[in-house]
Amino acid sequence: PSGHLIDSLARPLRDLRISVTDRCNFRCGYCMPKEVFDKHHRYLPHSDLLRFEEITRLSTLFLQHGVRKIRLTGGEPLLRKGLENLVEQLAGLRTLEGRTPDLTLTTNGSLLARKARTLKAAGLQRVTISLDSLNDAVFRRMNDVDFPVADVLAGIDAAQAVGFSRIKVNMVVKRGTNDHEIATMARHFRGSGVTLRFIEYMDVGATNGWRMDEVVPSAEVIARLQQELPLVQLPAESPGETAQRWGWADALGRHDPALGEVGVISSVTQAFCGDCNRARLSMEGRLYLCLFASQGWDLRRLLRDGSSDAQIAAAIAGIWQARGDRYSELRASLPPETGGNPRRRIEMSYIGG
Ligand code: GTP
Ligand code: 5AD
Ligand code: SF4
Ligand code: SF4
Repeated sequence: PSGHLIDSLARPLRDLRISVTDRCNFRCGYCMPKEVFDKHHRYLPHSDLLRFEEITRLSTLFLQHGVRKIRLTGGEPLLRKGLENLVEQLAGLRTLEGRTPDLTLTTNGSLLARKARTLKAAGLQRVTISLDSLNDAVFRRMNDVDFPVADVLAGIDAAQAVGFSRIKVNMVVKRGTNDHEIATMARHFRGSGVTLRFIEYMDVGATNGWRMDEVVPSAEVIARLQQELPLVQLPAESPGETAQRWGWADALGRHDPALGEVGVISSVTQAFCGDCNRARLSMEGRLYLCLFASQGWDLRRLLRDGSSDAQIAAAIAGIWQARGDRYSELRASLPPETGGNPRRRIEMSYIGG
């Protein structure tokens, strides 16, 4: 059973996000707050993690079901030993259309200066780097492990130097913490060839103490930027994208491609579940159909109990076809004191955003 799949809301399966580790060397308060992820926190033992061969086998089956983009996430994916070997295996796979999948990775950038070259050589096409501030003191406070911003900037430089295309930087905006850095970040990356994206702080997981008053709505981000420099809205590149695109404008109000673009990801104020085409695979082989899901489907069991490719592909098809998840759209109608979903949710560091 292979071919394009659609879920119960007619959404295709296009994007597979694979988390390769539950560990991270940062402790961003919105994701892995120190109080929770302390020295007593139990990470998964190595034997519970999918082996690279298992990830590649599943990826092959997902590609046969219409997936076109594979993104590696974590925790921090570059902490997984030998990740370039996985990249190499995935780069050898093909989509249903016979093309190389769009192969990319979301990283905190801390190890990128060291690893950019081997990752590129292994066949990685793009990288997205998380960076919440250019101000060293603010950045150290937000990563909460005193990591210097200069090292992440060196990682971004290395990514550009080795020739990654369409490099993106993700900034999670928290009111009162780093929202005063919005314009500085925008000016820094304007014209640099890097696309900066402002992300609304989300109520993901159950440990970050999310509050609506710390969310800066994307409309406000754009309005603040427009006060300094003109922007024009750009059309979506492909259906189901997370970000709305805005281009820097020239004196005549037309998009100047040389100046590049910014994006806003507005999961809280303008949900984008309507055409959400993303599936998430955890490091231990559980398949999640939504970032806010409380349960995943155990594919590792099938990988290890002798099931055939056809049986696993059929299981994946059944799971996707029954999918009806649209948490961000429903959030608005859920009791506000729960920050939305009252059930136990998976953590961002487990499912990789
Ligand atoms: P591109 O392919 O480069 O556009 O990447 P992406 O935006 O799909 O992935 P990235 O890892 O850069 O995610 C950016 C932000 O969007 C992160 O904060 C993610 O948690 C969030 N995000 C990604 N996918 C979803 C989604 O399906 N739902 C919600 N609510 N947020 C998402
Ligand atoms: N809200 C919004 N974005 C988040 N990320 C992690 N936690 C949150 C949150 N609570 C971001 C990271 C990374 C991306 C994968 O998800 O900064 O850029
Ligand atoms: Fe680590 Fe990324 Fe989570 Fe920060 S947001 S703690 S860098 S996984
Ligand atoms: Fe997709 Fe769930 Fe995010 Fe909606 S909330 S866009 S369904 S992952």
